[in-house]
Amino acid sequence: MKERTFVLLKPDAVRRKLIGRIIQRFEDKGFEIVEMKMITLSKEMAEEFYKMHKGKDFYERLIEFMTSGRVVAMIIEGENAISVVRKMIGKTNPAEAEPGTIRGDFALSTPDNLIHASDSKENAEREIKLFFGKLE
Ligand code: CMP
Repeated sequence: MKERTFVLLKPDAVRRKLIGRIIQRFEDKGFEIVEMKMITLSKEMAEEFYKMHKGKDFYERLIEFMTSGRVVAMIIEGENAISVVRKMIGKTNPAEAEPGTIRGDFALSTPDNLIHASDSKENAEREIKLFFGKLE
């Protein structure tokens, strides 16, 4: 089923000049980037985006990190985009992410694990709306 997912390249991906290589993987796989923008997240925006993690021990560090530099937000479209993109980015903890995944190949720690991707249809819709102001 053709669907859309939300992907965010975090400040470490921008600082480390990995934007091109990461996007290349999604294009090589056959996905289409249908919307994209580079922005610096405000504290409010980061807190809204990660509100489900509020109160967790890593929350403050995560918000500080996510507002520390520019990020690249995008909508990726293709067959089973949500689950396939999640598979391509690898486990949240890069130390456990399989080689061949983006985190497995390029990252070693959290919260600087390079990339976020929606984990469900509901979250994809919420995140696309938050960043691009529409539900499509
Ligand atoms: P993400 O997939 O964007 O979802 C929540 C983010 O919180 C996660 O990637 C990491 O960047 C961060 N995170 C998750 N667990 C931890 C942790 N134990 N310590 C620090 N950051 C974490």
